[in-house]
Amino acid sequence: MDRIRLLSKTVYDKIAAGEVIERPASVVKELVENSIDAGARAISVAITGGGLKEIRVADNGRGIYPEDVKLAFEKHATSKISTAGDLGFIGTQGFRGEALYSICAVSSVEMKTKRREFPEGTHARVTGSNTEFIIPAGIPDGTSVAVSDLFFNLPARRKFMKKESAEAALVSDIVSRFILAYPEISFHYTSDGKTVYHSPGDGDLRSAIYCVYGAGVSDAAAYVEHEANGIKVSGFVSKPGAPLKERRGGSVFVNRRYVKNGSLHDMVRSAYGETLVKGENPFFVLDIRLPLSAVDVNVHPNKLQVRFLDPASVEYVIKEAVSGACGEVRGAVVFPAEDIKRRADISVRRAEQSEFFSGFGNATASGALKETKLRETQTPAAPETYARGFVARENAISPESTQTAAASENAPPPAPYRLIGTLGNAYILVEQAGDLLIIDQHAAHERLLYERLICADAPVSQALLEPVVVKLSHEQKNFLDENIEAFISAGFCVEPFGALDYKISAVPAAAASADPAALLNCALGAQKGGVGAALTRGAVIKAACRGAVKAGDRLNDEELKSLVESYLSEGEAPTCPHGRPVITVITKKQLEKSFKRTV
Ligand SMILES: Nc1ncnc2c1ncn2[C@@H]1O[C@H](COP(=O)(O)OP(=O)(O)O)[C@@H](O)[C@H]1O
Ligand SMILES: [Mg+2]
Repeated sequence: MDRIRLLSKTVYDKIAAGEVIERPASVVKELVENSIDAGARAISVAITGGGLKEIRVADNGRGIYPEDVKLAFEKHATSKISTAGDLGFIGTQGFRGEALYSICAVSSVEMKTKRREFPEGTHARVTGSNTEFIIPAGIPDGTSVAVSDLFFNLPARRKFMKKESAEAALVSDIVSRFILAYPEISFHYTSDGKTVYHSPGDGDLRSAIYCVYGAGVSDAAAYVEHEANGIKVSGFVSKPGAPLKERRGGSVFVNRRYVKNGSLHDMVRSAYGETLVKGENPFFVLDIRLPLSAVDVNVHPNKLQVRFLDPASVEYVIKEAVSGACGEVRGAVVFPAEDIKRRADISVRRAEQSEFFSGFGNATASGALKETKLRETQTPAAPETYARGFVARENAISPESTQTAAASENAPPPAPYRLIGTLGNAYILVEQAGDLLIIDQHAAHERLLYERLICADAPVSQALLEPVVVKLSHEQKNFLDENIEAFISAGFCVEPFGALDYKISAVPAAAASADPAALLNCALGAQKGGVGAALTRGAVIKAACRGAVKAGDRLNDEELKSLVESYLSEGEAPTCPHGRPVITVITKKQLEKSFKRTV
């Protein structure tokens, strides 16, 4: 068997096909690209069994001439380019002329297509590159392609497919990118008969974002736009401090093509500069438009990568667009009303234990705090399976948490001090025994939250006053469904509320001050390497820490006082959980020395 042989045509055809057609999502990508290139205004995508059983893509585009249908299935047959020179000016999604050919080689394809100006259309079926029939037929304008039994003749490839739900998630991901890239096209996408996305096609990018990510993200995003050197960047980016998405929360389109260049994502991230904490991912949907000749899309058969003639200019325009929005927003964010309410809606147990939290609560929204108390005795309205975990935890918490409360209440009061004020809404200046203490408000709050969360051994649920509905990615949904028990034991109460929508009615009490949607998102995002209650808890702690006040947040006197009081009285560590210093002290002696009063 060690002799080398030439592969037969049928074998190398399949290998070539495999380069582009790796899985159901690649079929969907190629077919939708064809519909877009045909000028469709409405595209429907329906998959069954994660696309492994069937994929149907139908459009109302211009259709194919009857005499060209046979040619469309041939290798390197395309209507989009004709010369090598055209490769330098690609304005269509497709140009290789091999998608239909490659798909047919590994599945059974049925196409119905009709051009408006012809009385009838064409119906064709090709299976494993074998044309079964091409016949005239009475069909509506546009094109529909049904692909079934993907990889029926490649059992080895089929073995590499993920579970149907995971393949469906990959299809959802690619469809979501098309929705964002083409807000003027209405997409209707179903998986096993259930509608996952239905975009309005009203041409408004915000509607597209709403359709894919839900209200929370679309409301928290800011429009940005910048143009220079013939390059225009426009789209929506998350405002600093807004709920963050996991890594898929970034989409970049180049001349309307979804691209996966990591360097583009890095450019966007770096435009956020210091406003991003390490490991945080901003949300962004950015469309980069530049002359066709300034970008090479013929880099990889999957057409997901591009090369810029002048990457530095592209980076400059991205930075200008994104950082402009960051600056504007940074100045505007001053403790929004709902944030104050969120701080008050904190776990009652935590609030009772902590001077610091009650400081916020009493000062701003004691009513809300009271209401939270009432809700806590009720069983949340949730399906039985989820409610079970909630109740079980309620019973489990008392001994440890009482201990923690006692320990915290017994903390000695700090030595007398005087609050001087703040510097740049970031540092709190305090006088104590003649020394000047400079406290980083974000780091101090983060340290306090962290200590309290780490001390609470048994997670407790905190019912939310109003349940929050979040939209997950298909991948997150699969993950949550499969690991729901771990999330329940971490303190979440979540239930399905639509295809990808979930209703959160309770969150881990220890992290109740964090935004519920961001909390769940963060817990889901942190689970990539595995799952378990401990992991989920770790993520919850991290998320809660993100709920800490930020540098630039303007705190009122009451809040400043309670933060300083808690920090000083609890003798907390001098660094935040990430190792940055919380406090720096200029001693009386140092001051006297610098004014040459002493030597
Ligand atoms: N949905 C569609 N509507 C109209 N024409 C289509 C459609 N799908 C495919 N075609 C035609 O079939 C040709 C071959 O498609 P494909 O194999 O995907 O190659 P490419 O898109 O790179 O040209 C296209 O160039 C186009 O003319
Ligand atoms: Mg194509």
